[in-house]
Amino acid sequence: MAGFIERRLEELKSRNLYRQLQVVDGEQDATVRLNGREVLNLSSNNYLGLANHPALKAAAREALDRYGCGSGASRLISGNMTPHEELERRIARFKGTEAALVFNSGYQANVGIIATLVEKDDVVLSDRLNHASIIDGCRLSRAAVSVYRHCDMDHLESVLKDAPARARKLIVTESIFSMDGDVAPLREMVELAERYDAMVMVDEAHATGVQGPNGAGVVAELGLGDRVLVQMGTLGKALGAFGAYAAGSAELKELLINRARSFIFTTSLPPVVLAMAGAALDLVEAEPARQCALQRNTGQLRDGLQGLGYTVAGSTQIIPVLVGEEQPCMQLAARLLESGLYVQGIRPPTVPAGTSRLRVTTMATHTVEQMEQALDAFARAARGV
Ligand SMILES: Cc1ncc(COP(=O)(O)O)c(C=O)c1O
Repeated sequence: MAGFIERRLEELKSRNLYRQLQVVDGEQDATVRLNGREVLNLSSNNYLGLANHPALKAAAREALDRYGCGSGASRLISGNMTPHEELERRIARFKGTEAALVFNSGYQANVGIIATLVEKDDVVLSDRLNHASIIDGCRLSRAAVSVYRHCDMDHLESVLKDAPARARKLIVTESIFSMDGDVAPLREMVELAERYDAMVMVDEAHATGVQGPNGAGVVAELGLGDRVLVQMGTLGKALGAFGAYAAGSAELKELLINRARSFIFTTSLPPVVLAMAGAALDLVEAEPARQCALQRNTGQLRDGLQGLGYTVAGSTQIIPVLVGEEQPCMQLAARLLESGLYVQGIRPPTVPAGTSRLRVTTMATHTVEQMEQALDAFARAARGV
């Protein structure tokens, strides 16, 4: 056993897969202080810039005074407080569903929901590029996992055909893919699900607050709310708070309360966090200009990067700049950082081998000038100066 940890670390370093934490000092914003230096932040999921919004801070302060700090217990013990109930009603209204249930994080939501809906002898059909939390939920469920090619509905149909007739089937996908920035063909997926009697779960982590009517997500945008069994989303990305939700029917909520282990066996979120999320939903619905600003910045940066000759994938605020191998990807990120741009390099196992990329993300609070500054830095990096 001795030396295992050192050997593992050496192996990661030799394969260019070693990761290190970076320290952001101060508030999350369009620019941040990274390791003591002011840089343009193109690495955040704080897409609407709400993480430091005065309305969220005020809601948190009020909740702190009214409800105190911790919740003290899990939801089924004494930790189910008024703010949990209020936020769940608020989320259901936002999503246009009968009910919603708050989870402590998106990771916990995905593992809990999937393992509740399918078990041994069932089949879960999962997009090849689904997030690690979905992959772990599939594993934890002990259902057979059929991975279909990314967004390939012909392949999904063929794996649906192969599933045992008596097995319960769950199709699970992200709506906006976290590392690819593209959008799943949900309409076709729902039609297939109905034809083959399968349930559908959609992870709207990166669409919540960003896409669809009032930011309600892609499912709502396509009018598929009644045909998707569960819409999962997060409160810590565009909504600037923390936590996650499952939205769907009242029976779904009841079952999750009874069966989702990641909901049952954990201390519930503190009221401050719930209050922030509620304030964020109010802002998202009342001020759609943020979504427009995000789209404007995304368009400017996407077009500009393509014009510079970079290979850019997807169609959303997540702009993957494809590089390929790990080392050149991390070198490009380092060069951009020298020019004052904070852009994260993404390597395996987060993405498949040979597809390392820069994951560039825009925010509503970036300015046109900041997007130009980013493009200047990318242009210099492309010329190697
Ligand atoms: C698609 C997707 N689902 C789930 C999660 C997990 O959400 P959370 O960060 O709230 O745990 C993330 C990102 O973290 C994600 O990108």
